[in-house]
Amino acid sequence: MNAAIRAVTRSALDQGMTVHGVRQGWQGLVDGHFRQLNARDVGGIIQVGGTFLGSARSAEFREESGRSKALRNLAQRGIDGVVVIGGNGSQTGSYMLSQLGVHVVGVASTIDNDLIGSDVTIGCDTAINVTLEAIDHLRTTGSSHNRAFLVETMGRDCGYLAMMAGLAGGAEVISTPEFEVSAIEIAERLHAAYERGKTHAIVVIAEGVKENAAKILAYFEDDKERTGFELRATTLGHVVRGAPPSAFDRILATRLGVAAVKALSDGETGVLVGWQRNEVTRTPLADIAGRTRPMDTELVELARILAK
Ligand code: F6P
Repeated sequence: MNAAIRAVTRSALDQGMTVHGVRQGWQGLVDGHFRQLNARDVGGIIQVGGTFLGSARSAEFREESGRSKALRNLAQRGIDGVVVIGGNGSQTGSYMLSQLGVHVVGVASTIDNDLIGSDVTIGCDTAINVTLEAIDHLRTTGSSHNRAFLVETMGRDCGYLAMMAGLAGGAEVISTPEFEVSAIEIAERLHAAYERGKTHAIVVIAEGVKENAAKILAYFEDDKERTGFELRATTLGHVVRGAPPSAFDRILATRLGVAAVKALSDGETGVLVGWQRNEVTRTPLADIAGRTRPMDTELVELARILAK
């Protein structure tokens, strides 16, 4: 998000605009927490994860009274364009605000990569890499100790993050909300891997599944020999957020941030700027709000073939 804030600020300044950063997301818009930004204010942040402006969900903004306060705050400062960097919840808010007559452009940013209107979203590549690093470490220790590891990563209701990290990390099993693998099947697949002579095995589990890592571990409690391997579980949780962004994410954020300002200066409103088929695209927020993009089913078959 910081790389996107930097890109929005510097490209808007380049076009002669004045830029105000909103502290704590939607809540800051309701409370009037603004801070004017110049080029130096966004220096030294491209390599830092998260957002120096802060972010917060806001129950108040969901109420009409909260949105009226936000409108007053924007009008008082003469702000006539808003860039919203975020995922599903944020872009649903963007849509609401755009319906009130404010020029709003969304920037696709979430580690979950579940937004309609972008093949890939800011933060996702970095989160995949953090998950992957953990998988690599666990594989090394698994190999030394003849163990299988259950690794649970984030992603809310979308399995993309788990799937990509699992594919890149050579996982034996990947369980996602879209294609959940039961504990019984995990046991069978791990046992088959053991029989094939593997010295370790990795099971990547997405946060949104019904049987998470802890439940699966508990399932094996009474029959520890069942998989052949000694089993351990690691839940990564918020560790997958906040890492220094990858080069890919910095560049994506830079492109989308600049594209958001361009959209505003074109007089565009109510759109999300995203990255689709290798170019910047604009998708109406009306098509995005309240919906999520399903994970590509072809990836599941890829994972199955490569787990051998
Ligand atoms: O949407 C990003 C995300 O990190 C999800 O992967 C996760 O389910 C959720 O946010 C966690 O939210 P919180 O930080 O409020 O616990």
